[in-house]
Order: sequence, then structure tokens, then C-alpha cells
Amino acid sequence: MIKDKEVVLSGIRPTGNLHLGNYYGALSKFVRLQETHDCLFFIADLHALTTNTDPDELHRNVKSILAEYLAAGIDPDKVSIFVQSDVPELSELYLLLNMHVGIGELMRTASFKDKARQCLGLSRENCSDSDDESIEKEIIGASTNKRVCAGLLTYPTLMAVDILAQKARWVPVGKDQLQHLELTRRFARRFNQFYGVEEFIEPDNFEFGDAPVKVPGLDGSGKMGKSEGNCIYLVDDPKVLRKKVMRAVTDEGPKEPNSPLSEPIANLFTLMELTSDPAVVQQFRDAYADCSIRYGDLKKQLAEDILKVTTPIRERINDILADDDYMRRVLARGADRARQQASQTLAEVRHIMGIRKI
Ligand code: ADP
Ligand code: TRP
Repeated sequence: MIKDKEVVLSGIRPTGNLHLGNYYGALSKFVRLQETHDCLFFIADLHALTTNTDPDELHRNVKSILAEYLAAGIDPDKVSIFVQSDVPELSELYLLLNMHVGIGELMRTASFKDKARQCLGLSRENCSDSDDESIEKEIIGASTNKRVCAGLLTYPTLMAVDILAQKARWVPVGKDQLQHLELTRRFARRFNQFYGVEEFIEPDNFEFGDAPVKVPGLDGSGKMGKSEGNCIYLVDDPKVLRKKVMRAVTDEGPKEPNSPLSEPIANLFTLMELTSDPAVVQQFRDAYADCSIRYGDLKKQLAEDILKVTTPIRERINDILADDDYMRRVLARGADRARQQASQTLAEVRHIMGIRKI
């Protein structure tokens, strides 16, 4: 691994299959980054434990995410890929860093309030974002069968540790993770100031030069997302994929030449722009403009063009999933590399905090 390049680190929770949004919004960018930076990409299985309680499902998801990363072009000869729980140093660092993290600041984190609400079965409506006190009361008063686990509260500490342990300079993440990154910066600064050291690097979000992609769903509005149930997965077989695209929401069609696009149609064009030949996109844009467009044709074309992207990836995923030895080798190499830096950071942090041999 080339040491003079800046370290980039990103993690993904193994909570299901990867979809086109993950592919264009994250994975394809990681593939570019691996050419220019010293990258570590990891599978955050310990973070997944904060919401996943099915052991077999967790194990399956770790394998499938790994295969999907590799199949999408993440190259283990260029970057380190590892599973978070294969680096036990992180768990000790998590314990140590937690001594410098406030319960209050964790409770105010948006993702915590959201997930705590879900655990308690509260809707957003009867518990608004500003309503910190009421969510706190609900958490403290919750019966044991509806508890909010402590791991959920300290989720940001573990994420900070993932980043700080590797001395990562850049962390490419989506918008929903920016608050966690800000907390990481704060914890790093606080630790350094408290002990008068320069142990941790304050990381930044990696800004890609190009405009951020938002891959839309097939349901007419919003972005493609696991919880929205509107995804095209990289592993979808052609039959499933074609069916999903043919069922995408449309409108009644343009009534006058050069009409503006409704949201569902604009979304289909956005997907087309990502996957189709520019000349094909233009042909359908022209057909829309002169009202000769047939949405059935557009969807058929779109499905075939998406399949051109996903089919080779799906085939590689299946090959990789059939090769446990290969997956083990990739992860062992990744874990070795991650443990090297993490154990050094841990030794330094123990010493700084006064955990020293007599
Ligand atoms: P999901 O919303 O399906 O749960 P995640 O939040 O796990 O997906 O996202 C993992 C990564 O994929 C993030 O970097 C996020 O920005 C990116 N991503 C997810 N959905 C999309 C989308 N529809 N368009 C662009 N990027 C996306
Ligand atoms: N919290 C991130 C998510 O849900 C996953 C994650 C865990 C992560 N540790 C990280 C991302 C460290 C970047 C860096 O998407």
C-alpha cells in the first residue's frame, strides 16, 4: 500500500443488498478514489448490530455486501477491504473514547432520535424534532421490551473510532452522515486539547468535484432507498428488473409540445441519463417534446440499458459468492492492514490516557 497518499475511509452497514443509488452515489466514486488515494473500505457489522437482531441475516449481509463491492470494481489489490469486527482494537478504542463523550450530545443526534423513535414505535408526528425532552422521557420510561439499546446511543462514538483509528483524512459519506462526521471532528479536537496532544486528525467529508448524483426511485417521487422500497438492486435478475421498470409510475403523457416534465417522467429521464447512450436519451427527449413519446417504449429501453450495467456486476457477484476462499483472503489482507494502524493508535491512546504497564 502506498503510504504517502492521504487516507480515505468509508464504511457501509450490512443491512441488505446494494441498489443503483448506492452504485452511482457511492460505489462508482469509490472506484475512482482507489486510483488516487490510500483507501480503506469496510463493512460496519458492529454498527448493524444496533438495529439488526437476526444473526444469520447479519452474516448473509456481510457476505453479500463484500461480493457487491468487489463485483462493482473495488479492487483489493489497490485498497483494503475489511470487516469492522475483524479489528478488535476498535472495540477497545470505542470504550476509551466513550469516556470523553457526553450522553447529552449523543442524545441530541438526529439519527439517534430517529432510530430511538422507531424502537419505541413512536411516529414523527407525535414527537417532533425539537421535542428533545419528550423523547428523553419516552426513552427513560420505556418498558424493557421496548428499550432503546445503549449501542444505538453510542453509535457516533464507534463511527468516530472507525475513522480516528485509521488516521483518515477524508471520509466520503452521504448527507445523512454529516452530523456523525461533525461529531468525529469534535471528539478528535476535544481529546487532543484535553491531553495536550496531536493524536487524532480531524477528518473532512470528501467532496467529489462533480455534482452529487441523486438516483431517483421508480415510484414517481424522491430518491431510491432501501427503506423506501423503490429500489433496483444490483442483484436483481433480468425478469425482476424488467418488471420493476415496466411498473414505474408515469403520467398521462404530454398534451402540448414542449411541456415541462412531471416528476415521475423527469425521474425516468434521470435514470436514463445514468445508464443509456446520450443519443438514445436525446431521441426520447425529442419524442417527449413533440408528444410522440410512448412510455412503454421508454421503459423497455431503460430496462435494457440498466441491465447492460447490472448484468456483468450480477454475474461477478454470483461468482464471488461461490468462492469463500477468495472472500476470506481479501478480508484477511484488509484486516491485517487495518489492524496495523488501529493497534498503533490504540497503544498511543492507552499511553496518553494513563493505561501503562507498571
Ligand atoms: P439507503 O438510503 O438505501 O439506506 P444508505 O443510506 O445505506 O442507502 O447509503 C449508502 C451510500 O449510498 C451513501 O453514500 C449514500 O449517499 C448513497 N446513496 C444511497 N441512496 C442513494 C441515491 N438514491 N442516490 C445517490 N446516492 C445514494
Ligand atoms: N454510519 C455509516 C452509515 O450508516 C456507516 C459507517 C460506520 C461509516 N462507520 C463509518 C461511514 C466510518 C464512514 C466512516 O452509512
